[in-house]
Amino acid sequence: MRIIVLFSLFALSVADDAGLNTRRFPPNFKFGAANAAPQIEGAWNLEGKGETIWDHFAHTYPERIVDRSTPDVACDSYHKYKEDVALVKKMGLDIYRLSIAWSRILPTGYTDQVNSLGVKYYKNLFKELKANHIEPLVTLYHWDLPQPLQDSLGGWLNETVADLFADYARLCFELFNDDVTSWITINEPKQVCLAGYGSGAFAPGIQSDGVGDYVCVKNVLLAHAKAYRIYDKEFRSRNKGKVSIVLDSTFWEPGSDSEADQEAAQRILQFDLGIYGHPIFIGDWPEVVKSRVAMRSRLEGYSQSRLPVLSAKEIELIKGTHDYIAINHYSTQMVNATVEAPIGRPSGGADRSVLVWNRPEWQKGSSDWFNVVPWGLRKLLNWLKNQYGDEEIIITENGYADTDATLEDDRRVGYYQGYLSSCLDAIYKDNVNLTAYVTWSIIDDWEWTGGYSSFLGMYRVDFNDPDRPRIKRKSADYFTNVVKNRCVVDKDQCTDS
Ligand SMILES: *[C@@H]1O[C@H](CO)[C@@H](O)[C@H](O)[C@H]1NC(C)=O
Ligand SMILES: *[C@@H]1O[C@H](CO)[C@@H](O)[C@H](O)[C@H]1NC(C)=O
Ligand SMILES: *[C@@H]1O[C@H](CO)[C@@H](O)[C@H](O)[C@H]1NC(C)=O
Repeated sequence: MRIIVLFSLFALSVADDAGLNTRRFPPNFKFGAANAAPQIEGAWNLEGKGETIWDHFAHTYPERIVDRSTPDVACDSYHKYKEDVALVKKMGLDIYRLSIAWSRILPTGYTDQVNSLGVKYYKNLFKELKANHIEPLVTLYHWDLPQPLQDSLGGWLNETVADLFADYARLCFELFNDDVTSWITINEPKQVCLAGYGSGAFAPGIQSDGVGDYVCVKNVLLAHAKAYRIYDKEFRSRNKGKVSIVLDSTFWEPGSDSEADQEAAQRILQFDLGIYGHPIFIGDWPEVVKSRVAMRSRLEGYSQSRLPVLSAKEIELIKGTHDYIAINHYSTQMVNATVEAPIGRPSGGADRSVLVWNRPEWQKGSSDWFNVVPWGLRKLLNWLKNQYGDEEIIITENGYADTDATLEDDRRVGYYQGYLSSCLDAIYKDNVNLTAYVTWSIIDDWEWTGGYSSFLGMYRVDFNDPDRPRIKRKSADYFTNVVKNRCVVDKDQCTDS
């Protein structure tokens, strides 16, 4: 008797350590893989495509890309898109997330010249997906602003760009209305603004920490909202599609249960995620963001807050512009409260006032912040549900950035298993209405300033071979089995309840 009790306790604790949820995904749950035009297409100046801020950035500042590479050819998906679609098909995926390059459709950024060869490329891609019964999930803006809009208008620092984006969005809705029912306006506005116009680490490389980044946030939100309203008014009745914006967030775990650390974690979530989510799902900026930026701006001697005001009209325009929540998530970090930074130059970091750290025992991917912490995803999904209501949520990116190109990518398999299990926990234990999991990514790609030296594909791409062959990794087989068995463990261990 005693032995049996001990044994079952042991079994429990082993299962708990592994922590894997063995239940099958719900019948309607969808799986997919994601990519983005500037990271895979190549053909950067072929057949009428205009220059983007990332083309320009990589060509002008090669030292800012770790391997001094460019997106000029990338995976050459512009020529090899049928091969990519075949891989998606082979893995049994429901969804292929892709992005349209603004400058392939409109080389100048304006609607004065429509590039018919660019339109034809996407038409062909959609045709190929349709023939294979794969649903396209289409992003209109994945960081690749047409360079002329940066040069002549200052890019996302100028509200005019929001109107130009709306024009471009309308054109895409018109051109591809028959091909696409799931739209995303903008991918990860946080990276667009913080890295593009705050730290300057990303194209267009503008360094305006704590000033330009906030201006960008407002303009990007206006761009998204205008595009959403256009779809709602002019296109939705025709094919009942859905539109949202993709937000991204690390999960921020408080360093202790002290009130100060708990508040610090909530504060950074509001600064990094709420600054986009709150205006869209609730209305206006999150209070803590508004009050802290106003407080520090005042002490710094500014006559008004560095965070632009949203007028009542703008609040109404932005509020409610979502048909589902779309979230990208890769990692979790720890966060503690910290002392208020001295007043000096504006700084987004000082506005947040938190201390970020990583647990040394956490397994890492290809960068310092890339901690493998599956439960962080479950907590993030719950945070979204608690903040924004019981909405449909889809994960539009999640995946493992490896440090080498190995085909025996057991670390990626482990990552998928843990994170997918965390999705099952959210679905079955927390009643989160998670309906799809779209991974990044099907093939290795050009990872922005990480060049070709951060590996996220279930298929390796040999970037030294002019033909850019796709070579299967172990994780592709694992993921294919997940999709087939609808379960994260071996088929004979899957459970129905
Ligand atoms: C924004 O664009 C307009 C043209 O629409 C231009 O007149 C203005 O100078 C630009 N503003 C900035 C801040 O560059
Ligand atoms: C964060 O706070 C916790 C709890 O007080 C503490 O154990 C930890 O050392 C702190 N981390 C850092 C990096 O200061
Ligand atoms: C989840 O969201 C989908 C899509 O909006 C909806 O059809 C479904 O009823 C929702 N499920 C629950 C349990 O709310």
